[in-house]
Amino acid sequence: MIYTSSNKTIRVNSPAKINLHLQILGIRADGYHELAMVMQSIDLSDEITLTLNNNGIIKLSSDSPNLSDGDDNLIVRSAKLLKHYAKRPDLGVDISLRKRIPIGAGLAGGSSNAASTFIGLNNLWKLGYSTNDLEKISSELGSDIPFCISGGTQLCFGRGELLEQIPSISNKMSIILLKDPLVNVSTPWAYKLHKEKFQIEYLSSEEKYEDQRINLRSAVWLSSNNQELSPPLRNDLQKTISPLVPSVENALTLLRSIPTSLSVAMSGSGPSCFALFEDLDTAKNALHANSHNFKAAGFESWCCSLVNKGPCIEK
Ligand code: C5P
Repeated sequence: MIYTSSNKTIRVNSPAKINLHLQILGIRADGYHELAMVMQSIDLSDEITLTLNNNGIIKLSSDSPNLSDGDDNLIVRSAKLLKHYAKRPDLGVDISLRKRIPIGAGLAGGSSNAASTFIGLNNLWKLGYSTNDLEKISSELGSDIPFCISGGTQLCFGRGELLEQIPSISNKMSIILLKDPLVNVSTPWAYKLHKEKFQIEYLSSEEKYEDQRINLRSAVWLSSNNQELSPPLRNDLQKTISPLVPSVENALTLLRSIPTSLSVAMSGSGPSCFALFEDLDTAKNALHANSHNFKAAGFESWCCSLVNKGPCIEK
């Protein structure tokens, strides 16, 4: 059979996410935290190119010198896990990654790359798994990956992997994102510190967890009738991380000082922070007016839209 490039190579875009709401409810028997979150995809994306090979090998290369291309990379782990599930040791792929999402930033870059790999290889290898199957399989590799499979705006419970679709929040809203390229935050470290400081306040029963989930599901800003309402933004990890990581405190202060910003928060376990704006033009104007300040304080900055979908295959 002669393959044309159209059926042998596919490109998948791999969008980052922010947390509009990250609430820590308690600690679970498996050591993870019980969470109630609203996650939101944004249009800051990596690009993953997948090319079939016939040698049964998973090979990754990337344009990022700071990223391992070995067996510990979530992209390689995802491809191997999918082969294993499909019981198809013959399947191989050459993967190339163009990295745009900052690493160790609280933007789920690695989780999104994993989700894009699952979606892309399901298509390229013609495996026929459903979205639901991919969410289940991928949850073995990380709590945020199932969200990244479909992306958009979703409620995420459990350790993050239990998903509930909700209407997208206003697709006009946009953000400015700040990240110091020299600062990374380890997610396990952030959760460990939070537990040490706040375990005394954790809820202790499934009934109390469920009360909080009900509250979040019925939050007015998430209702489809209130698309123009600005999300109040909450991130429980912020109160642990911002006193210890000066770049987070600086980013929050700079973003809060912008008169047109609606609300400001850290994303995930940080150190990225973002401000919400009514629309893209307002965010762009604010970025233009503040880009010197951001640079002088050592930050990289982006202006991004909120998007209502996850990874997309561009054939
Ligand atoms: O699931 P994932 O591998 O992305 O999680 C990374 C780390 O973050 C975990 O090993 C754990 O330390 C912490 N975590 C947690 N509770 C969660 C999710 C992550 O404590 N719900």
